[in-house]
Amino acid sequence: MTSARSSLEIVPPGPVVSLRGVGKTYGAGKTALRALAAIDLDIAAGEVTILMGPSGSGKTTLLSIIGCILRPTAGEVRLLGQEVAEENEAARSALRLAHIGFIFQGYNLFPTLSARQNVELALDLKGLGGRARRRRADELLEQVGLGDKGDAYPADLSGGQKQRVAIARALAGEPSLILADEPTAALDLQTGRRIMMLFADLAHRLHRGVVVVTHDSRILDLADRVVTLEDGRIIRDIALPRESAPAAPLDASLLRRRRSRETDLKELVAS
Ligand SMILES: Nc1ncnc2c1ncn2[C@@H]1O[C@H](COP(=O)(O)OP(=O)(O)OP(=O)(O)O)[C@@H](O)[C@H]1O
Ligand SMILES: [Mg+2]
Repeated sequence: MTSARSSLEIVPPGPVVSLRGVGKTYGAGKTALRALAAIDLDIAAGEVTILMGPSGSGKTTLLSIIGCILRPTAGEVRLLGQEVAEENEAARSALRLAHIGFIFQGYNLFPTLSARQNVELALDLKGLGGRARRRRADELLEQVGLGDKGDAYPADLSGGQKQRVAIARALAGEPSLILADEPTAALDLQTGRRIMMLFADLAHRLHRGVVVVTHDSRILDLADRVVTLEDGRIIRDIALPRESAPAAPLDASLLRRRRSRETDLKELVAS
């Protein structure tokens, strides 16, 4: 893994991704369906943003637009300051490869490749070959706690382990932006929380932007920000300021922050 410093250098100041007036309508005419409308959203580096909302509220659509997989039908999308909504497919694909790690809900692993080969494939796309590629794949697997599973095939891995191979693969390109659609849906609480803690570490220590779509209110406390969608619009956007490191002295302002964070979380879980 590169040092935190070099990772910081690749993320320029300002939001990693910025959406203005973004809308998405699927289909046309009588069957047209408006999935998103008037979305203004900035995703910052160094933060885990959770995207939640009822089924059909537009979460996957929004994540796919943020990830340059899907083109909006209205508005602007800027990735690291560059307008992408109007770019052609080849340019968007190059931007995705350079800057974005997408973790899909179904893992999307190749069943006939080992965990290591699944990660190596992503490194191959980045132009890394030979022994360096193998070494890097092993490092990435080690980083997600699967150092001993390089030779295992997806069928022999648990849901949480497959999820972590998918995360290692998404991290292969050292993306500025990591996007995950329901990464904890199929996992037990403890494994889900461990994966969220890995995302938080990537955001806080390596200064990546992380966006996680979830229905799971049990992992909300690990987010820095929770954005709620309803019917294709943002209805709530709450920052959850982080507490200081445990070694820091407790002072009254910290206690106040902690209380307000807990209150915010209670309200979010109840909503
Ligand atoms: N490819 C598509 N073609 C037509 N309509 C679509 C398409 N993808 C999504 N939709 C519709 O757009 C709306 C938003 O869908 P989206 O998948 O973004 O919701 P979601 O919040 O991710 O839901 P879930 O929690 O069930 O995954 C829904 O009404 C859905 O039926
Ligand atoms: Mg979805």
